[in-house]
Amino acid sequence: MTPQPRPEVAALAGYRLAGAEVPVKLNQNECPRDVPAELKEEILSRLRGLAWNRYPPMRADGAREAVAEACGVSPDRVLLTNGSNEAILALMQTFAAGRTVVLPEPGYSMAAPLAVVAGARVRPVRLRQDLRVDVDLLARSAREAEAALVFLASPNNPTGRAVTPEEVEALLRAFHGPVVVDEAYWGFCPRSVLPLQDRYPHLVVLRTASKAFGLAGARVGWVVAHPEVVAQVSKVVPPYNVNLFGQVAVEVMARRGELVACRVQEVVQERERIRDALEDIGVQVYPSDANFLLFRVPDARETFLRLLERGVLVRDVSRYPMLEGCLRVTVGSREDNDAFLSALRAAREVAV
Ligand SMILES: Cc1ncc(COP(=O)(O)O)c(C=O)c1O
Repeated sequence: MTPQPRPEVAALAGYRLAGAEVPVKLNQNECPRDVPAELKEEILSRLRGLAWNRYPPMRADGAREAVAEACGVSPDRVLLTNGSNEAILALMQTFAAGRTVVLPEPGYSMAAPLAVVAGARVRPVRLRQDLRVDVDLLARSAREAEAALVFLASPNNPTGRAVTPEEVEALLRAFHGPVVVDEAYWGFCPRSVLPLQDRYPHLVVLRTASKAFGLAGARVGWVVAHPEVVAQVSKVVPPYNVNLFGQVAVEVMARRGELVACRVQEVVQERERIRDALEDIGVQVYPSDANFLLFRVPDARETFLRLLERGVLVRDVSRYPMLEGCLRVTVGSREDNDAFLSALRAAREVAV
């Protein structure tokens, strides 16, 4: 007999993704553009000069300093992780094992399983009818459940709206345990909650290099928190968690603020263009502060498959609570977005 896992682990579905080799891949909220060739050269030449037989800097000092500067905080507020998923797991392990985590549903799909893996219980809190995160309800539920931690993604994935700093401030006043705001889609959203950290040391902000930096392949994320929080979470994260490539790639990109800003702006413009086009097609589309859009069609599974037949892969989120009929599309390059829009028009003509 094979070894039996903990029952909570056995009950998890595991991360699954409809994988398909398609010309137009708009299902993972990645950056549509690769790292420019000259930056790849810079990264590679720095890597060539480093010793690969040695462990990398334990806490990724160069990358940490560059990232801290890009975020406008001191380096002792930053902890680099192997993707922000590792940061989520480490925070759950540090603060929530054996206790309750309150989070929005639907929300970031990995947050609840990572909480469970860390040995926490999850109390999901429904979104409002307009699909915005219900911050009041989160605060009330956190108090009722005597929660160890509140987690929310802002902008929320897969719905796309951010909470306002004012809403988060109200939550921070009402709940005094760690409030983790996952800003994976920072950059695409005009406002960050980070400045609140000066007044609220229990606010923990997460960011990733996978979206605005366009470095999903490097697998780097980071925690921005009070230095005491960083010190505690650092004990949970294994040493040398971020490899040499991740460290160098992120350090180089963090020092290219203009390039990042320019690409982000392109995506935001394209996002609004797709949103208008979807409205013209007659599809219900939700406002987004991220690099993706959520839209509702009468027949999500059919539409998903018809798009796929035409070489366009989006994310079917129609089985999530409250999201019946919904698909999520990542904002891609202009050409990919055009391909998506024509495929959607064609798919709807077949449907009529
Ligand atoms: C809200 C949110 N947090 C975290 C992540 C994962 O980030 P990373 O690639 O840094 O693990 C994603 C990925 O889509 C996300 O949507």
